[in-house]
Amino acid sequence: MGSVGRLASYVPLSSSQALCALGTLAVTLLFLVVVRQLVRQRRPRGFPPGPTRFPLIGNILSLASEPHVFMKKTSETYGQIFSLDLGGISTVVLNGFDAIKECLSHQSEVFADRPSLPLFVKMTKMGGLLNSKYGRGWIDHRKLAVNSFRYFGSGQKMFERKISEECMFFLDAIDEHKGKLFNPKHLITNAVSNITNLIIFGERFTYDDRDFQHMIEIFSENVELAASGWAFLYNAFPCIEYLPFGKHQKLFRNAAEVYVFLLRIIERFSQGRVCQSPRHYIDAYLDEIEQNVSDKNTSFSKENLIFSVGELIIAGTETTTNALRWAILYMSLYPNIQERVHKEIDSVLPNGRPPTLEDKQSMPYVEAVLHEVLRFCTIVPLGIFRATSQDAQVSGYTIPKGTMVITNLYSVHFDEKYWSDPGIFCPDRFLDSNGNFIRREAFLPFSLGRRHCLGEQLARMELFLFFTTLLQRFHLQFPKGCLPSLSPKLGMTLQPLPYTICAVRRQP
Ligand code: HEM
Repeated sequence: MGSVGRLASYVPLSSSQALCALGTLAVTLLFLVVVRQLVRQRRPRGFPPGPTRFPLIGNILSLASEPHVFMKKTSETYGQIFSLDLGGISTVVLNGFDAIKECLSHQSEVFADRPSLPLFVKMTKMGGLLNSKYGRGWIDHRKLAVNSFRYFGSGQKMFERKISEECMFFLDAIDEHKGKLFNPKHLITNAVSNITNLIIFGERFTYDDRDFQHMIEIFSENVELAASGWAFLYNAFPCIEYLPFGKHQKLFRNAAEVYVFLLRIIERFSQGRVCQSPRHYIDAYLDEIEQNVSDKNTSFSKENLIFSVGELIIAGTETTTNALRWAILYMSLYPNIQERVHKEIDSVLPNGRPPTLEDKQSMPYVEAVLHEVLRFCTIVPLGIFRATSQDAQVSGYTIPKGTMVITNLYSVHFDEKYWSDPGIFCPDRFLDSNGNFIRREAFLPFSLGRRHCLGEQLARMELFLFFTTLLQRFHLQFPKGCLPSLSPKLGMTLQPLPYTICAVRRQP
């Protein structure tokens, strides 16, 4: 009987039966996927409320254009803390200064994790620095980076001189355009990335280094793609990895190319290394790998070195470059503001003396302009996605451990409770009645708490020195009747759409 039964199971199916069986299997699988997705879409108990979610895709479609603006508007209906469903990924959105301060500052550790989104897992395996999970790996990487920035960078007086030297290369390259129209994007990118390069590689790259420029170009394309609809779709449905089309494929190709480039360049710059005598970040990192070789739990590895070098380069370049591009755009747009900047520069720096960081205190208007650019343009509008490292209680809501959290920094900079007429570009809001610079608490371009920007000090140095030297030498203007769009290009960062300007040498 047993052998008859076994024989029966080998009776071949007809092709129509096979098709029918396959169809049933496919429908069952689809049904299970849909049920799993619908279960994942349920709001956990005590979770903040939020707008209606569509089955399967949740609120993804609402993020198609200007997600930061959509989130600020939505907070007017659902409160400063509300939730979205990003295709089965329950997400809490924090809006306005009070909510963000409450979570990122008062509960710093609770909100210090990064979400294990499929895209981040695929790109960095949640290692490196910027994307690293909150824990020992992140602590070790952050400590090493902070120390390296101090030791090889902003902690040294020599470093300021190196930034000033880069400013001169930058100005001379602009001068080559002889006051004619040009797009400053590439020059700014090269100059700004060179400051981080000094810390990471101990050297600057020349402005005609095509390989390095290409790497930065495709890396910054990825910063844009990481906030595209395809990236959200991939996070919700990682199986689309196998679709032969879609922007996520471009993202993966770019990431693979950047990885190979960084691997090669790291090898090049580690040649001639002497143990415990680091010349730059790469040497310091390799020392850590060697020192921890017998520690099974160490996170220092060649792979994490590549990830963290990439993250430092792009986090430092993409942001500061865009801040300077916006600053140039607004100076050209508002000649009266530019004139006040020129006047202050000329009075504090007579006879074209190059600026130093000490001059900052005597230049409140320049400081006010740079702060207003960072507020008004909010370069990183949604911060970098966070996650809860443990169950959290906030404003009566319960947020389970591991929930993705979006910090809407744009909403802080346009929070009517803290800013009057936030939609107007007005540097004077950072000055008191005597013209002295005043700090404003609801100013958070670098975010807050444990994961706040690691390069804030460096970025502030760069912005002041590049901006002041640029305006000291040039008058910036658009050709008559040719005004650029002020709409930002969307991505993880907000950048101006490409524009061209004339940088005309000022009379000495
Ligand atoms: C105008 C310039 C800059 C702006 C507006 C900016 C803004 C930010 C923001 C909003 C974050 C997210 C923090 C969070 O998770 O809440 C961040 C993180 C970070 N930034 Fe910046 N940044 C700038 C320049 C730089 C520079 C120059 C560097 C280094 C070269 C840098 C390195 C980093 C790193 C490594 C992180 C991740 C920190 C971590 O996860 O622990 N940034 N930045």
